[in-house]
Amino acid sequence: MAEVNLLARLPKGKRSVNARAEAKTPEIIAISRQYGELYFDGPRTYGYGGYRYDGRWIPIAEDIVKHFNLKPGDRVLDVGCAKGFLVKDLMKVCSGLEAFGLDISEYALMHCEPEAVGRLHLGSADKLPFPDKSFSAVLAINTIHNLERADAIRAVREMERLAPGRGFIQVDSYRTPEQREVFLEWVLTAKFHDYPAGWLKLFSEAGYTGEYFWTIIE
Ligand SMILES: C[S@@+](CC[C@H](N)C(=O)[O-])C[C@H]1O[C@@H](n2cnc3c(N)ncnc32)[C@H](O)[C@@H]1O
Repeated sequence: MAEVNLLARLPKGKRSVNARAEAKTPEIIAISRQYGELYFDGPRTYGYGGYRYDGRWIPIAEDIVKHFNLKPGDRVLDVGCAKGFLVKDLMKVCSGLEAFGLDISEYALMHCEPEAVGRLHLGSADKLPFPDKSFSAVLAINTIHNLERADAIRAVREMERLAPGRGFIQVDSYRTPEQREVFLEWVLTAKFHDYPAGWLKLFSEAGYTGEYFWTIIE
């Protein structure tokens, strides 16, 4: 297992932590966790505040292809693919690469990028409907923290099963109590989160041998 920042070239989004904290209610959290229209394309209170393709994942796709030495004909899976932006961009930067996605949101899949149509599966990260060792790399970016701890372990184990030693997981975390406070004000959907040491324990319980990095709000 090793830490590697594959999202270094992703522009940092604007966040108003105070506005989110003031607006947040149990009802809003429950609606966000449905991953429907309000979460992706409703007001910022419910989630993204508009999840639209703008090409920002292209540099990240380039870095992923380089890092995993992906070649035309290889298969890569994006768990928590949402509308398939990364799936589209992986195929754009590496022509002939077979990219696929899986997400729990029917809304996201029904509003996916045209290039991703037929490549996105509806399902949950803790039960990936693919054979052992069937992918050259499996990614899960800002997704695994949306599962309860026991389900997150199952999800990580599933990634390891599909691509042993060839996973990349990015999850919500914090390195200091101050960062944890900011995170708690901001968070809507995450059901499990921890300091890096807590995540490393979870990865190890899942038998994970791939790579990982943290989303930290500062
Ligand atoms: C913060 S978004 C990240 C989307 C994309 N990976 C990105 O980084 O832009 C979290 C995604 O996880 C999906 N998700 C939540 N729970 C899931 C589960 N149990 N299995 C698969 N996907 C899930 C949501 O529908 C949503 O698309």
